[in-house]
Amino acid sequence: MAVTSARQLDAAALRAQFPIFEQAGGARRLAYLDSSNSSQKPRAVLDAMQTFYETSYANVHRGVYELADRAAAAFEDSREKVRAFVNAGSQREIIYTRNATEALNLVAYAWGLENLGPGDVALVTELEHHSNFVPWQLIAERTGATFAAIPIEGGNHELDLSKLDEIAKRGQIKVLAVGLVNNSLGVVNPVSELAAWAHEQGAICVVDACQAAPHRPIDVQTLGADFVAFTGHKMLGPTGIGVLWGRQELLQSMQPFNVGGGQIRHVSLEKTTWNDLPHKFEAGTPPIVEAIGLGAAIDYLNEVGLESIEDHEVEITEYALGRLGEIFGLTIFGPPLERRGGIISFDLDGVHPHDVAQILGNEGVAVRAGHHCTQPLMKRLGVAATTRASFYLYTLPEEIDRLVDGLHRAKKVFA
Ligand SMILES: Cc1ncc(COP(=O)(O)O)c(C=O)c1O
Repeated sequence: MAVTSARQLDAAALRAQFPIFEQAGGARRLAYLDSSNSSQKPRAVLDAMQTFYETSYANVHRGVYELADRAAAAFEDSREKVRAFVNAGSQREIIYTRNATEALNLVAYAWGLENLGPGDVALVTELEHHSNFVPWQLIAERTGATFAAIPIEGGNHELDLSKLDEIAKRGQIKVLAVGLVNNSLGVVNPVSELAAWAHEQGAICVVDACQAAPHRPIDVQTLGADFVAFTGHKMLGPTGIGVLWGRQELLQSMQPFNVGGGQIRHVSLEKTTWNDLPHKFEAGTPPIVEAIGLGAAIDYLNEVGLESIEDHEVEITEYALGRLGEIFGLTIFGPPLERRGGIISFDLDGVHPHDVAQILGNEGVAVRAGHHCTQPLMKRLGVAATTRASFYLYTLPEEIDRLVDGLHRAKKVFA
């Protein structure tokens, strides 16, 4: 992970802009270490949505009155913010969905059903979130294609790229679906390298950027992938909105995944034709106010600076790795700091992750316990679940200290 000379952010000052942290004072102050699950929202995002509802709300692309025009302009303005955020060439390449899961299913159904068949391979990795794993498994089943996964190697639980040649012998690889940053262990995958390899095989590359887009700059031009999906609620935005970026020529060639209102050009008994991109893939009333919130979240992230956020998370993660490393009997999964996002999954010897999370929760420390929607990865690690702490721009070293104190208490309770 590149540590740049970006200006240092003041996490305590930023935190004051998040109303949730004003609640519950004293010893039960919230230590929120579950941002990779969903992030908290700054007042700027909440205010933008509230103001839009109060001053500018109407359905978009349907009305001919001034208010509807204003709503549509604001909605499309938010799309432009997303375009610039990932450096896409055109707003036509930015499709709004309900979440990242829908964005990934869109590619699997709209591209996969048409382009996969017997003899082809749909390739994922053992590090994928179920949302970038199961859709391809399902489409492979339906089309007769082979479904395969790049395995992880034992030590740091990173992808074992030495297996690529062997996998390529299993058939014609048509798609590689891979995450930029894994959500369970924080593994950062070499996605540009993998996208280049996929293209050499004649495959497309679908990138799940859910755990990257909120935390580090993303440039779809340099990434080299064909589709990139991410979700609003993990990047300070609201729930109910996701984004799919896709190469225009691929999006043009695909049939829509959802059909109905808003995405058609003409409907008759004989035939229906589709609207232009991006509307072709946005059936029904879109997440209008959510798009406004996502736009405000992007403004906020740009204001703080993605490089500064990344640097802050490197510092916090380094501190957390050090402090957690002091706890006897605690095993940390995943790679070293250089190839890790702000996520740490661990096992506390002899204590079930749900018990650990419960004890921490009693102390006001919010972490996640479970399989994190990565059951194949858990199986490979030989565990049913892990406890996971994850960090963001508002995470403070004191919160890590409270996590460590809570873990010592958990050890005592279950000793
Ligand atoms: C890596 C990754 N991919 C996909 C998703 C799915 O996101 P959503 O639930 O917003 O569709 C998540 C959410 O946890 C994730 O962490």
